[in-house]
Amino acid sequence: MSLIFENVSYHIKEHNLVGEISFTAHAGQIIALLGPNGAGKSTILDLAGGLKTPTSGKILLNNSDIGTISAYKLATMRALLAQESPLTAPFSVTELVSLAFQSLDHTLTMSQKKHLLEEVINSVGLAEKSTRNMQTLSGGERQRAHLARILLQLAANNRPTESQLLLLDEPLSAQDPAQHLMILSLIRHYVRKGGMAVIILHDLNWASAFADHIILLHQGHIYAQGPPGHVLTNATLGSVFGLPSFLVKQHKPTNRPYLIPHDMLSGLS
Ligand SMILES: Nc1ncnc2c1ncn2[C@@H]1O[C@H](COP(=O)(O)OP(=O)(O)O)[C@@H](O)[C@H]1O
Ligand SMILES: [Mg+2]
Repeated sequence: MSLIFENVSYHIKEHNLVGEISFTAHAGQIIALLGPNGAGKSTILDLAGGLKTPTSGKILLNNSDIGTISAYKLATMRALLAQESPLTAPFSVTELVSLAFQSLDHTLTMSQKKHLLEEVINSVGLAEKSTRNMQTLSGGERQRAHLARILLQLAANNRPTESQLLLLDEPLSAQDPAQHLMILSLIRHYVRKGGMAVIILHDLNWASAFADHIILLHQGHIYAQGPPGHVLTNATLGSVFGLPSFLVKQHKPTNRPYLIPHDMLSGLS
C-alpha cells in the first residue's frame, strides 16, 4: 500500500478547509495526524478514504487516482473509523460489527464468518458484551464496536494486508488508559503484518511514542512533518498550539520527545 497526496486542496464555497497538502506514506508505517481543533485533520482523513473529492491536486492509493477506484474495490482497500458514528437502530454489537460483511463480495462460509466475528469482537475487548444492544453501551464501548466493524471490513476480504489502509479519526477519544494501549497495540500488530495506518490523535505523547511519521497541521496546511523528534519541538508546539516554550523533554530509552502537564501548570500564575 502507498498513499500519496500531491498538492491536495479542499474548498467548500469560499472556505479553504485544507490547502496544498503533500505527503507520501507506505505499507508498514503508522502516520499520526496532529493539530488543533479545526486544523483540517478529519477533512484529510475523509479525502484519504475517498469520502471527499479534492478541489485540486491528486490522491494516489496504490498508485491509482482514488477517484477512479470503484466503491466496491475501495471497500476492500481501506476502512475508516469516523470521529462520530451515529446509530439509531437497536443493533446488538454482533449485528453492528457484521454490517462489515455487507460492503464486500466475500466468499466466506457461515462458520468462517462466525469465527472472524468472534475474533474481531474479542480483539477490542467486547466478547462479554457481544449480544448487548449498542444503545446500552458506554461511549467507549460503542467506539470499540465500530472499530471492530472496520477491522472486520479489512479482515473479511481476500486482499493482502500489505495493500490495505486503516484510517482512524480519534480512536482513543472515548477510551480509558488501558484501552489506549490495547487499541494502539492492535494497530501496531496490523501494521507489523504489512498494513498502513493513518491515525488522528490529540495525545502528543502517544503520537510521539507510537508514530513513525507525524504530520502536524495548522489552519489547513502542513506545518511540519517527519519523525516525532523532528516535529514535536518546543518551537513547533509553541507556534501551532500556543504551548509554553520549555515543555519538550527527551525520553532517553527511546530518544523520542515527551511532555507532562506538571510542567505546563508550573507556567501558570
Ligand atoms: N461545510 C463546511 N463549511 C465551512 N467550513 C467547514 C465545513 N465543514 C468543516 N468546516 C471547517 O473546516 C475546518 C476543518 O474541519 P475538520 O477537518 O473537521 O477539522 P479537525 O478534524 O482538524 O478538527 C474547521 O474549521 C471546520 O469548521
Ligand atoms: Mg476532526
